Amino acid sequence: MSSTAFRPARRLASIGVSEILKIGARAAQLKREGRPVIVLGAGEPDFDTPDNVKDAAVAAIRAGATKYTTLDGTPELKAAIVAKLKRENGLDYEPAEITAGAGAKQVIHNALMATLDEGDEVAIAAPFWTSYADMVTIAGGVPVPVVGREENGFRLDAADLEAAITPRTRWLMLNSPSNPTGAAYSAADLRPILDVLLRHPQVWLMSDEIYEHLLYGNHTPVSPVALEPRLRERTLIVNGVSKSYAMTGWRLGYGAGPKPLIAAIAVVQSQSTTNPSSVSQAAAVEALNGPQDVLPARRASFERRRDLVVEALNAIPGLHCRRPEGAFYAFAGCAGVIGRRTAAGRAIETDAGFCRYLLEEHDVAVVPGSVFGLGPYFRISYATAEAELRTAMARIARAVEALS
Ligand SMILES: Cc1ncc(COP(=O)(O)O)c(C=O)c1O
Repeated sequence: MSSTAFRPARRLASIGVSEILKIGARAAQLKREGRPVIVLGAGEPDFDTPDNVKDAAVAAIRAGATKYTTLDGTPELKAAIVAKLKRENGLDYEPAEITAGAGAKQVIHNALMATLDEGDEVAIAAPFWTSYADMVTIAGGVPVPVVGREENGFRLDAADLEAAITPRTRWLMLNSPSNPTGAAYSAADLRPILDVLLRHPQVWLMSDEIYEHLLYGNHTPVSPVALEPRLRERTLIVNGVSKSYAMTGWRLGYGAGPKPLIAAIAVVQSQSTTNPSSVSQAAAVEALNGPQDVLPARRASFERRRDLVVEALNAIPGLHCRRPEGAFYAFAGCAGVIGRRTAAGRAIETDAGFCRYLLEEHDVAVVPGSVFGLGPYFRISYATAEAELRTAMARIARAVEALS
């Protein structure tokens, strides 16, 4: 008998509504009820898109850039990306090795759809951006998280990677600096990992470099392809303008990789969204080619906030936080509060329980580390005004103090 009941595709079976969205929804509900909730969950800069970029977009609309464009990026955008890769990363790519999509997220999704067969495995350096695993699953693959330990700065250990590789492993997904830990890989950190990849030619590298401009102190970005040119023919560099230029809403990301992969990505994109927004592409050309002087000031502001958050967290007995090299996230350990009890007598059993307590009783929304593949930790996004951050840190301190 046929049924009219909604039946989701099997590929969605293991993918629920993300914990981050649930926390966001609960925080929004509490705010509507009048509670002064501070949300430290969002993965986007609190700055505005620079004016020169906005002006370029308006000019593009007026000039009639309002039609379909070349499928995977206008010649102008591809040229700007080629120039960026040369200027900032010392890499030589041609336009046919570049793809632009609606956010780095679409580029990643396209690449996985274009390459994974049912049951193919994807090694993911964990803790990882939650979307990686769900995107692998949607594409029919099997996510294989390989956890980087805190003693190793949350970075992937080459021996652990090698142990996780099987004949079915198609990709390693690596993100530096990382969401959620802020950990960045130096050339010395990358070398043993790249050596493992050299020994396993069936494994391609997806190098997500979207936070590369947000590196602090004397840390500098290192693209694996620059370090190991032999991996160029099986690496997809993923990047975009969302984080560097505060353009999350414009939805413009890009990839650089070998021509056959780029062509396969174009096939996937041609049957989903076609080209990324013509206006956003014009804006991205200006972001990449125009003056870059807003970046250092913004970077300095993030660095100040990183220091504020890390110092405040480490001053709270029971919590600890490694000083991240980049991005705008702090990944704090909360093992010291597990097993303690709230004033109402409820036990804190997991990082998720701790995060629920912070939100429900102390008006701070943060995300449990287990969501990113490693507990008991929690992630703070510090892309928020300094005054709010100070208030939030004081609330977390009071919340922990109130535990017995
Ligand atoms: C590691 C990582 N990669 C990619 C993205 C996606 O960025 P985009 O806005 O370009 O889709 C994000 C966004 O949170 C991210 O954290």
